[in-house]
Order: sequence, then structure tokens, then C-alpha cells
Amino acid sequence: MTDKQLSTSTPLIELKGINKYFKMGQGELHVLKDLDLTIHRGEFLMIMGKSGSGKTTLMNIIGFLDQSNNGEYIFDEQDASKLTENQKSELRNKYIGFIFQQFFLIQSLNVSQNVELPMVYEGLKKEARRREIAHDYLSLVGLEGKEHSKATELSGGQQQRVAIARALVNEPLLIMADEPTGALDSETSSDIMNILAKLNDEGKTIVMVTHDPDMRKYATRVVYMKDGVFLEEEEFLNG
Ligand SMILES: Nc1ncnc2c1ncn2[C@@H]1O[C@H](COP(=O)(O)OP(=O)(O)O)[C@@H](O)[C@H]1O
Ligand SMILES: [Mg+2]
Repeated sequence: MTDKQLSTSTPLIELKGINKYFKMGQGELHVLKDLDLTIHRGEFLMIMGKSGSGKTTLMNIIGFLDQSNNGEYIFDEQDASKLTENQKSELRNKYIGFIFQQFFLIQSLNVSQNVELPMVYEGLKKEARRREIAHDYLSLVGLEGKEHSKATELSGGQQQRVAIARALVNEPLLIMADEPTGALDSETSSDIMNILAKLNDEGKTIVMVTHDPDMRKYATRVVYMKDGVFLEEEEFLNG
């Protein structure tokens, strides 16, 4: 993308002055401290930070799974504070694909049914069409032929591929991945990261959080987080 295109297209996400507190007994824990973050369409943004730095809390806010205590959140030109819970759920299902460390597949469903779920919630497509689309995305992640397997019969890497296919079926504007390689060995992690990098090459916007510095090479931009604030890379590396 050229500079001109970047400057004329609005950011996908803008966060300004975001604070998040959790109640802790009598007091409260200040987990996100006045954060500003802009996420541009087409980028692969990686949020890097040690465990406990506030990454998942931030992801939950971006994914409409939680709310900040104050600050501004604009998603695709819409002010999140003006959306009802129903509108947020709809937005989440339609525009955001989630990938988690623990995969979160439904063990009683087969692979195809797991991938079809976001389309079931969306409620627009007939079953035969859903199955066809699931098949296409399973092929994309290299799992053609596994449609009828149970999730429990798959390796960790295969389960994460199913989760990626599931995240893609509604053609979301944004893929959010919270420690997607956290439960995988390094070789399997590379396979998963290569799939995400390829999706980004094809134009998908991705936000990923990780504590693993080896993942930096897959991103188009890295931000460093510690104790609820963004740091310069040097500050981060110095502790
Ligand atoms: N629901 C919650 N209630 C209270 N404290 C929480 C809650 N969620 C997270 N925290 C605390 O907020 C801090 C940041 O957590 P988290 O966002 O999960 O960090 P990370 O994903 O970077 O490991 C931690 O100290 C954690 O214990
Ligand atoms: Mg986390």
C-alpha cells in the first residue's frame, strides 16, 4: 500500500485514552493505562509483552468481549460506545474472526460443523452452502478430507488450523489471534504463522498478541507492552 492510500483510507481501528481497571478486594487493579492505538487495514500488527502485561485484556476490548472504563474506541468508523450489546454481538460475528491459544473447538462436533458455526449464528446460508464454504476454508488451511473427523482426533496444530478456518468463514475484516502458538511446538508454530502471514499477504488485517519474541518476523508492525503501557522497543528489551 502506498503512503497516499494509507493516508486517505480511514484506520480500521482507533483506540484513544483507553483505561481498564479490575476490582480487587477493596481496591482496583489498573491494567490498561491511557492506551492509544491505531490499526490500519491490511497490516499484521503484533502486540508483544510478557504474561500479565494486559494483552488479553486489550484484545477483549478490541473484540467487543469486554469494555474499557473510559476512552474512545472506533471500529470501522463506528463508535463502540454508541452500540447496543446486540449490535456488538452482530459486529463480532460478522467482522471479527477469533483464534485462541486453547483452540476452543466443540469436541462433540466434527471438523466441518465446527467451521460452520459462525455461519450458523449468522443464519443466512443454507446447510449445503455452509458445508461447501467450510470445505473450501478447510482446504485453504490444508485439512481437506478431515471434514468428518472429531476435533479430539486431531493434533494441536490441526486443531488450530480448524480454528483458523472457523475464523475465516464469515470473511471478517479483522482476524484476532491471542497467543495462537502458545500451545504448539516450534515446528507446528511456524506452520500456523506461515498460514497467518499468507492471509495477511492476501490482504487480511491481523492483530496478534504473543509473549514470544521469535514471532516478530511474521508481523508488519510490532508494538511492545509492559504493565499496561506501550514501550519503545529498547525500553522493552531492557526489562
Ligand atoms: N477479569 C479479571 N479480573 C481481575 N484481574 C484480571 C482480570 N483479567 C485480567 N486480570 C489481571 O490483569 C492483568 C493483565 O492480564 P492479561 O490481560 O490477561 O495479561 P496478558 O494477556 O498480557 O498475560 C493481570 O494482572 C491479570 O491478573
Ligand atoms: Mg493473555
